[in-house]
Amino acid sequence: MKIFLHSLVLIFWLFSLCIIITQEQVAEVCIIINSDRPGIGGTQYVSSGLFRGSSAWNITSSIIHITHSHLIFHHLFLLSLSLPKTITSNVFISISTLFDSIPLSPPVPDSSTTKKYMAEYDGAIEALTKLISEKADLGDVAAAKIRQLTAELEVVGSKPFNPDERIRTGFANFKNEKFVKNPELYGELAKGQSPKFMVFACSDSRVCPSHVLDFQPGEAFVVRNIANMVPPYDQTKYSGTGAAIEYAVLHLKVENIVVIGHSRCGGIKGLMSIPDDGTTASEFIEHWVQICTQARSKIKTEAGALEFSEQCTSCEKEAVNVSLGNLLTYPFVRDAVVKKTLALKGAHYNFVNGTFELWDLDFKISNSTSV
Ligand SMILES: *[C@@H]1O[C@H](CO)[C@@H](O)[C@H](O)[C@H]1NC(C)=O
Ligand SMILES: *[C@@H]1O[C@H](CO)[C@@H](O)[C@H](O)[C@H]1NC(C)=O
Ligand SMILES: *[C@@H]1O[C@H](CO)[C@@H](O)[C@H](O)[C@H]1NC(C)=O
Ligand SMILES: *[C@@H]1O[C@H](CO)[C@@H](O)[C@H](O)[C@H]1NC(C)=O
Repeated sequence: MKIFLHSLVLIFWLFSLCIIITQEQVAEVCIIINSDRPGIGGTQYVSSGLFRGSSAWNITSSIIHITHSHLIFHHLFLLSLSLPKTITSNVFISISTLFDSIPLSPPVPDSSTTKKYMAEYDGAIEALTKLISEKADLGDVAAAKIRQLTAELEVVGSKPFNPDERIRTGFANFKNEKFVKNPELYGELAKGQSPKFMVFACSDSRVCPSHVLDFQPGEAFVVRNIANMVPPYDQTKYSGTGAAIEYAVLHLKVENIVVIGHSRCGGIKGLMSIPDDGTTASEFIEHWVQICTQARSKIKTEAGALEFSEQCTSCEKEAVNVSLGNLLTYPFVRDAVVKKTLALKGAHYNFVNGTFELWDLDFKISNSTSV
């Protein structure tokens, strides 16, 4: 039933689209519905409608129309164009927040439903394409926008994401482009590894050190965790990290340990957001990031007047320094640092402005305190 309503609305909308093409004295709204709810496989819907006047009321009423059809969506963008007059403005409004308060109960589609969605989706793209071709006076800006939208929809929306296929294709590309083409490198690596770097990086999917620093296989021994933290020496609480550091330093004899923080780090934001009374709401995360609670305290004291986001940026760097300090609690790290066979470095990768800062740990270990 829901699906039926959905189709009905969509057909209604596509029908309105045809009217747009014949009646030019009205405002027109193009709606892109982007659903990334599970079950639909990231399908996106396009619809386009005609409104007499581009008043908010009319736009809103149409949206209600859609929600009543139980169409599920995540973002809804409106592209409002004034036709046929010269297009003076090209309004592109995100109104996704409007729906945060509307409880939607998404239908759970079976495969035939999904197929139906897909067919409607294709129809919508077709309608938009038709709109572009038939409306010569659509205006370059508007036409380009619609073209861009349809192109994006074709790429993202037409195929449900298949994780197995993604993994297989990914490996096939790697194998053909890299593995097979570099038999020397991979032959050497088959015998063993002697990376010069041990790297602590965040688990964040945007900061993979192999990508950001162009590390090739065999170059970096990597530990990734929430907020790229190095916990202090503790054989029971942090044995996983301890084992990695021990292996890197004593067996692989890495010459550098680099701790890389990054911009907009959720873990650091979490650390900075813990209430002052220390109450935590998560099962693991807050407890983990409190490894760098010292960084948080320092920022709150010294930079408490800054905007929260700036405090977080400072804390991202300060926490790296705390981690570098924590590395020295491992006796084999201290030994190697004192012997100068190991260097400790801090870094901060900013993926907003595309910058990378690198610094050396500035510390003093007197010979007498070496273990
Ligand atoms: C909405 O559109 C109708 C025609 O569909 C029109 O009569 C009405 O005036 C519009 N509402 C507003 C608030 O402009
Ligand atoms: C990039 O952002 C960092 C903050 O992490 C700042 O220190 C740096 O100056 C910025 N660089 C540019 C080129 O904007
Ligand atoms: C981190 O340590 C380096 C070297 O000791 C120092 O120059 C830098 O100011 C420290 N960063 C922060 C944010 O405290
Ligand atoms: C450590 O001792 C060596 C001699 O054993 C000396 O040359 C070096 O300057 C000392 N380093 C520090 C930091 O005191």
